[in-house]
Amino acid sequence: GATLQAAAARTGRYFGVALAAGKLNDSTYTTIANREFNMVTAENEMKMDATEPNQNQFNFSQGDRILNWATQNGKQVRGHALAWHSQQPGWMQNMSGTQLRNAMLNHVTRVATYYKGKIHSWDVVNEAFADGNGGARRDSNLQRTGDDWIEAAFRAARAADPGAKLCYNDYNTDNWTWDKTQAVYRMVRDFKSRGVPIDCVGFQSHFNAQSAYNSNYRTTLSSFAALGVEVQITELDIEGSGQQQAQTYANVVNDCLAVPACKGITVWGVRDSDSWRSYGTPLLFDNSGNKKEAYTATLNALNAA
Ligand code: G3I
Repeated sequence: GATLQAAAARTGRYFGVALAAGKLNDSTYTTIANREFNMVTAENEMKMDATEPNQNQFNFSQGDRILNWATQNGKQVRGHALAWHSQQPGWMQNMSGTQLRNAMLNHVTRVATYYKGKIHSWDVVNEAFADGNGGARRDSNLQRTGDDWIEAAFRAARAADPGAKLCYNDYNTDNWTWDKTQAVYRMVRDFKSRGVPIDCVGFQSHFNAQSAYNSNYRTTLSSFAALGVEVQITELDIEGSGQQQAQTYANVVNDCLAVPACKGITVWGVRDSDSWRSYGTPLLFDNSGNKKEAYTATLNALNAA
């Protein structure tokens, strides 16, 4: 394949990108996005604060810009994210207890219903586990409504859109030896054993010096896959430059290719200048939209499969 999407498609996988609605009038940006990728994630536009700015008043205008661009260009869409401790609208931030639980479930239901039939995979719950040792849940207003908030969100999402794959999505879950990875693994195993509707696990894969790529990533992906879920690399970016960065991109691609249930890779932005990171050069295209060494290494790894 001459592009990332074509090379990935040869292996039965997708290659995706996070897009921002505010950049859809930048033709350098959209030309690359349209040429290289066949899956799109809204970087911010389908989050809780964007879609329910006032309680029970839903606003899909920005999310629809992403969805319409994707549809018009033949792309599929990953939905991101239905329930999260962060980027909650102001009215939700200070809620608690049953009121918050019900507001969260109403949000999941309404957003998943609005986009019913149009979403390949939803990140139903994002980042619900704490970093570091111990494998605890992350403290948040949602967590304080009770441990079962996650499974309640998944059940509501399934009821609203039975056709979407339902994912749990997190970061610092790529290293198999980390407590956070093991804690998410135990939750998914428990969900599968009890019939809680979960179809996929998203590994964000924001790699930098503190959270470095580790060669046991492949073990992590295959171990989760053995539970009977699809695995997806959902927000890939890798700090660094040159051949070292290129090699790490190739390693990530090769790890996904080695695991049949790894169905796709999404990079978290188009050009380095589009990255959420305030410094560095973590993506596949430079600020002018030129292909980097990391791009070539990624394409070659896909084409070698
Ligand atoms: O749109 C407003 C703009 O009107 C305002 O003037 C400006 C001033 O700060 O803020 C703009 O909103 C920003 C938004 O990005 C759009 O650019 C927010 O402040 C900023 O917080 C927000 O950052 C996003 C971040 O999530 C928030 O948590 C990043 O774009 C987005 O890339 C990042 O994505 C997350 C994933 O959702 C979950 N995993 C980690 C990943 C990276 O942090």
